[in-house]
Amino acid sequence: GRSVITLDDLSIPQITDLIRKATYIDSHRKDVAHTCDGRVLATLFYEPSTRTRLSFETAMLRLGGKVIGFAGAQLASVTKGESIADTLKTVSNYVDVVAIRHPKEGAALVASRAASVPVVNAGDGGHMHPTQTLADLATLQSRFGRVTDLTIGLCGDLTFGRTVHSLIETLCRFGNVRFVLISPDELRTPQYVLDRIDATPSCSYVEVRDLVSVIGDLDALYMTRVQKERFFNEDDYLRLRDTYILDESKLALARPEMAVLHPLPRVNEIAVEVDDDPRAAYFEQVKNGMLMRMALMSSVIGDDLPGYVPLEPKEV
Ligand code: CP
Repeated sequence: GRSVITLDDLSIPQITDLIRKATYIDSHRKDVAHTCDGRVLATLFYEPSTRTRLSFETAMLRLGGKVIGFAGAQLASVTKGESIADTLKTVSNYVDVVAIRHPKEGAALVASRAASVPVVNAGDGGHMHPTQTLADLATLQSRFGRVTDLTIGLCGDLTFGRTVHSLIETLCRFGNVRFVLISPDELRTPQYVLDRIDATPSCSYVEVRDLVSVIGDLDALYMTRVQKERFFNEDDYLRLRDTYILDESKLALARPEMAVLHPLPRVNEIAVEVDDDPRAAYFEQVKNGMLMRMALMSSVIGDDLPGYVPLEPKEV
């Protein structure tokens, strides 16, 4: 099967086609309602989730498929000592596709190697979150008509923020992106992600501590939550959690057409008053997350979308 552990598992034409498919699905919901008839998705979530699990499950239900799974490992046999590999060898007998979230980096890859059906990484520790990136790309595409030739600020917890790592990795493949990496010294972007930018001649980055001094340069600002669950030390979390709070006074310094993204959940890093600003794109991201998961599920295990005409290879 075609597992998606990072978006490197999909070609750029495939990703571009998924974005197009999501737009098509949004306007043809009845036409696509049987694309996954008879298929079953398992959502194996060893870590909390609202959006990712519920949107995967909704995606499958809206395509005519069915869903099993667990939300929270406390009810699964991992509590009796079962390995991820044994769990996947088991669940592969039940379903056609698996979405897995796990607190350990690399867990989704381990799962995909044990499974005999496609596995989609729904977040592995502080590493990657490829389907969030699909939502992020769809949101940039709808706001700007492109995902390249942009200056994108990423702000907050760039060390543990897996959505940041996935997004940078994928935007480097599209090319022509300037990254402004805004974080405290303790939460800077991991070297393996910086190496990815360094290896991309058309992309560049700067690392800064101050949001206010750079906000006016940005096309998009990707805010992130400080990832409490990945800290070793509660004091460090408490010291760093309020470093950046985007409010209307800071947004007043930004371009009128800048887009504010956030994978959610937020704690307090975006003031609620910003939700009414036309630049706030994070609830569009939520909608795009479901549509992109519909596009992905239909591509991985579904029938062709009725009426959907893919781009000719030369056009993508
Ligand atoms: N963006 C995201 O992954 O949200 P959840 O943790 O609620 O799934």
